[in-house]
Amino acid sequence: MKFRRKIYVVGGDLTTFIGKHHPDFIWKKHPDFGKKENPTLEELLTQAINGAFEKTGVDPEAIERGFIGNFAGELFSNQGHMGALAVRANEKLHGKPFTRLEGACASGGLAVAAGIDALNAGHDVVMAAGSEVQTTCSAREGAGYLARASHWETERDIDDFTFPAMFARRAKHYKEKYGVTDEDIAHVTVKAYKNANKNPYAHMRSIEMDLESAANAGDRNPQFLRNEELKPHLKVSDCSQVSDGAAAIILATEEGLEKLGIDKSDTIEVLAYAQATSPLGDVDDYTVLNNTMQAAQQVYEEAGLKPSDINVAEVHDCFAVTELLMYEALGFADPGKGAELAREGETGIEGSIPVNTGGGLLAFGHPVGATGVKQVLEIYRQMKGQCGDYQIPETPKYGLTANMGGDDRTTVAMAFENV
Ligand code: CAA
Repeated sequence: MKFRRKIYVVGGDLTTFIGKHHPDFIWKKHPDFGKKENPTLEELLTQAINGAFEKTGVDPEAIERGFIGNFAGELFSNQGHMGALAVRANEKLHGKPFTRLEGACASGGLAVAAGIDALNAGHDVVMAAGSEVQTTCSAREGAGYLARASHWETERDIDDFTFPAMFARRAKHYKEKYGVTDEDIAHVTVKAYKNANKNPYAHMRSIEMDLESAANAGDRNPQFLRNEELKPHLKVSDCSQVSDGAAAIILATEEGLEKLGIDKSDTIEVLAYAQATSPLGDVDDYTVLNNTMQAAQQVYEEAGLKPSDINVAEVHDCFAVTELLMYEALGFADPGKGAELAREGETGIEGSIPVNTGGGLLAFGHPVGATGVKQVLEIYRQMKGQCGDYQIPETPKYGLTANMGGDDRTTVAMAFENV
C-alpha cells in the first residue's frame, strides 16, 4: 500500500513480560502464593496504555482511534470485546472508537497496521496496543487454545502441543535439507537468553542458557512432544515463552505531531508496511517462510530499501528454528545459510545485523497479542537510545519488524527510519 501521508511512531510503553521462571510470577512455590495474584489481562492492558501516555506526554484526549491486538482473551481470561475493555483504562478514552484485531500471534502487528490505515484515511493521532494473558491454565491446555491458530480440522491432532509440533516439523525438514545441527539452532537460543539477561522487561531475564544446555535434550530440557516422528526435533529451550504482558504505542501524522507539540526528532518514521495472508493448513515447503517473504519483499520495495540497509530487526522467533527461517525470508541470509549468520554472531547486539536485541519471543517472552506492538516499540527504543544495557553500539538508521501468525499464515512486516 502506498502511504498517502507521512506516519510516525511517537513512542509508547510496555509491561514487564512475566510467566513461569520470572521472579515476580506467582506460582505454587512463590513465597507470595495465596497472598498475591498475577496481573489480569485488563490490568496489563491498562498499565501499558497509561504508561504510553506518561512516557510520550500525549494527552489521552488527543487519541482519535484505538486498535487492540489480542488473540485468545475469551479462552484464557473469559474476556472478549477488547476495544471496550481498553477504554476502561482512562476516563478520557471513554466514547472513543477502539476496536480489537485478531490474527493469531500477528494480532499485535495487525493492530499497528490498522492504526497506520486509520492515519492514511484521515485521522491524525491513534493508539495501537496489544495484550495477552496465557498463564491461567497449564501449558498443555494453553497449547490447545493456541492451536485455534492452526487449521483445527486437519492440524490440531499432530500433537497436544500443536504449534511446537508444527515448528518441530519445520526444524526436521530444515535440518535434513541443509545438514543443520541442533547446535547450530542453539546459537539462536543462547543469543536470546544473553540479550534477555540484560533486559529488565524480559520474562527470562534471570535464567542463564549456555550452548551445551540449549543444544542437548536432557531431564531439565526435555523433548516433550508425543508425536514420535517430530519429538527428536524440539526441546523446551527451543520454544518461546508462555507469557503475560502488554504493550502500547502512539502513532501520528505530521499534522498530528504539530497538534501534540512533539518534535519529529523524538519520533521514528514508518516507511512502509505489508500484510500477507496464506491459506490455513496449506504449507508447501517447510524450509521456507513464503508468506513472510512475500510481505518482506513488498515492504522493501515500498520503503526503497534492501536487506543490507537494515541496522536492527525484530523478528518472530516463536521457536529457535523460526529465527533462522526469518533471516532467510527477510533476505539477511541466503537459503540454508541462516545458521551461519547466527553462529558467527552477526545477529548479536554487536553484530552487523542485530536481531531481537531484547531477547525475542524465546526469552523476552511472547504474550501473543502484545508481541507485534512490542516489536515496533523495540525498534523505536533502539533508535532513540532507550535500551540501556542492551542498546546496540551504533544508532540504527533503518529497522524492520516481522510479526507472524500461525504457521506463517499471516505476516505483518514494517520498515522504519530514524528521524
Ligand atoms: N521429562 C519428560 N517430559 C517432561 C519433563 C521431563 N523432565 N518435563 C516436562 N515434560 C513434558 C510433560 O509431558 C509436560 O506436560 P504435562 O505435565 O501436561 O504432561 C510437558 O513436557 C510440558 O511441561 P510443563 O507443563 O512443565 O512445561 P512448561 O510450563 O515449562 O512449558 C513449554 C514449557 C511447553 C515449552 C511452553 O513454554 C510452551 O508451550 N511454549 C510454546 C508456546 C507457544 O507455542 N506459543 C505460540 C508460538 S506459535 C506462534 O507464535 C504463532 C501462532 O499464531 C500461534
